[in-house]
Amino acid sequence: MPSASPRRTAAPAAPAPIPFIDLKAQRQRNAGDVERAIGRVLEHGQYILGPEIAELERVLADYCGVRHALTCGSGTDALLLLLLAQGVGPGDAVFCPSFTFAASAEVIALIGATPVFVDVAPDDFNLAPASFESAIAAIADNGLKPCGVMPVDLFGQPARYPEIERIARRHGLWVLADAAQSFGARLDNRRVGGLGDFAATSFFPAKPLGCYGDGGAVFVNDDGLIEVLRSLRVHGQGRDKYENVRIGINGRMDTMQAAVLLQKLKIFDDEIVARDRIAARYTAALEGVVAVPRLRFGVTSIWASYTIEVDDRDGVVERLKALGIPAMVYYPRPLHRQGPYAGFPVAPDGLPVTEALAARVLSLPMHAYLDAATQDRIIEGLRAALP
Ligand SMILES: Cc1ncc(COP(=O)(O)O)c(C=O)c1O
Repeated sequence: MPSASPRRTAAPAAPAPIPFIDLKAQRQRNAGDVERAIGRVLEHGQYILGPEIAELERVLADYCGVRHALTCGSGTDALLLLLLAQGVGPGDAVFCPSFTFAASAEVIALIGATPVFVDVAPDDFNLAPASFESAIAAIADNGLKPCGVMPVDLFGQPARYPEIERIARRHGLWVLADAAQSFGARLDNRRVGGLGDFAATSFFPAKPLGCYGDGGAVFVNDDGLIEVLRSLRVHGQGRDKYENVRIGINGRMDTMQAAVLLQKLKIFDDEIVARDRIAARYTAALEGVVAVPRLRFGVTSIWASYTIEVDDRDGVVERLKALGIPAMVYYPRPLHRQGPYAGFPVAPDGLPVTEALAARVLSLPMHAYLDAATQDRIIEGLRAALP
């Protein structure tokens, strides 16, 4: 008797993975414009500080309603340039959150100053004014000189600038806005860039306004300060290339990135509307199911991430992954819990909100080209993945 051939059942098709951020979809919209803009740079050949750089700086300053924007190599360079321009160094204390990307505190430590970690508020995940004020009082007693504060506009929502600025003024501190995640957002009709005494942003590809490589910018209103920053960006250059009047860095954005950003800015306002619509759709579906992000009154977010809080976070991430749904955790380890930063001071009451959030947050796919069907799949997947 012929042996029966083994029966094969087709394995169910694995669900197609969903991109967390879909840069390809954006490219389909403006690829021709971007490629022509890059082609113009190839034609004129001014790869460093070419005409697109000055044009982008004018456009960015107008967009943010500030006197000056200066482009640079990354968001990290933007923060570093501003700290160098303030003359920050050993013995100086700069207050910042621990619940942030490493670059915020890294640049402070890199130039020999001391980051002092402050807690964040449970509703918007941004610097908590009361924790900031108590940290100022505590740090003055231990020999460090408080000089400034770096609020971070986490996940795209501007920090509480009016309250932070009031406290900073009382103590003679400047306010450096780490706006790496919030370019395009507003607070009381002031755009990010014009919040704080000066601001830094990032154009890393995954940011709401991203270039095709590394890039960043600083925003200032002070005519003297912009000249210092311009010099610091090119090795502390003086009147010409070989006169050096201060210690600086090589912090220039390259011309091709400026050409890309000029084209991307043309569709950015449309993308802001789309991001808002997608965030609102998430909130409508998930409110009451998980803790959804909250915007403070008078504030818009650029939704760099749509970040929720869940129980059994790591289990939820795993179950979502099995469904082809990427969820990212920003940030699982607060900076004050990590080796290089563990020795720096923290606010006197500790960082209980930071610790709790680090165990509970989870960010869902978020970009301007997320269609309703894909978003519904994410929402349904999340409901199924919850404990
Ligand atoms: C809060 C924050 N600060 C600074 C940076 C640094 O920006 P870049 O990666 O462009 O250096 C980032 C980048 O992710 C960030 O999220």
